[in-house]
Amino acid sequence: MKILQITTLLCAALLGVACNGPQTKETSDSTTLTQEELTSRGEYLVTTSGCTDCHSPKIMTEQGPEPDMDRYLSGFPATDSLPAIPEGMANAPWILFNPGLTAAVGPWGTSYAANLTPHASGLGNWSLEQFIRALREGKYKGLENSRPLMPPMPWQNFRNFSDQDLEAIFLYLKTLKPIDNVVPAYQPPTP
Ligand code: HEC
Repeated sequence: MKILQITTLLCAALLGVACNGPQTKETSDSTTLTQEELTSRGEYLVTTSGCTDCHSPKIMTEQGPEPDMDRYLSGFPATDSLPAIPEGMANAPWILFNPGLTAAVGPWGTSYAANLTPHASGLGNWSLEQFIRALREGKYKGLENSRPLMPPMPWQNFRNFSDQDLEAIFLYLKTLKPIDNVVPAYQPPTP
């Protein structure tokens, strides 16, 4: 225990940072991947981590909503509007989703899934640093002093991705078809 404490102190003193701080995460497998390998790892992670559930508009099929691949990961469509909230539901202890699952209403207000494509209205102008901060610290646009990201964006799970995985996801998202879609601004709850 003592040795551990001393090591931690030494690390902090020598590096000027906490050794196990939340800012960086090493993968257990720290193999160096080529850009191509990173991008396909990013595709694997995006397609297995449910990003499309909320970030892609849907087409309704007999089996229920399926992602609209023409608008893949482009967020809540700016041309859509939310259906009126049924009477009595506004303050009911329920969370409401639109049929495309790209917008949700709950005690935090109304949130709209972001455009993750590399268009300027999406992640086009984002740096990797912003992306990491958004997913690790839950900051809107990945900016230091911005508002917290609202539910249902599950960044509290995604903050456990390693640095390499976050870079892989970012690289993959940058290869998507850029889609022009300015997602509406989050609205706080009405008192
Ligand atoms: C359960 C729904 C849900 C899932 C799953 C989800 N997101 Fe989100 N995401 C949202 C919502 C809603 C927002 C907007 C939150 C806000 O405006 O505060 C958002 C916001 C974001 C933002 C911030 C955009 C900005 O402009 O600040 C990024 C980046 C992001 N999501 C990436 C991802 C990635 C990558 C995945 C998969 C690994 C993912 N999300 C999975 C719902 C989701």
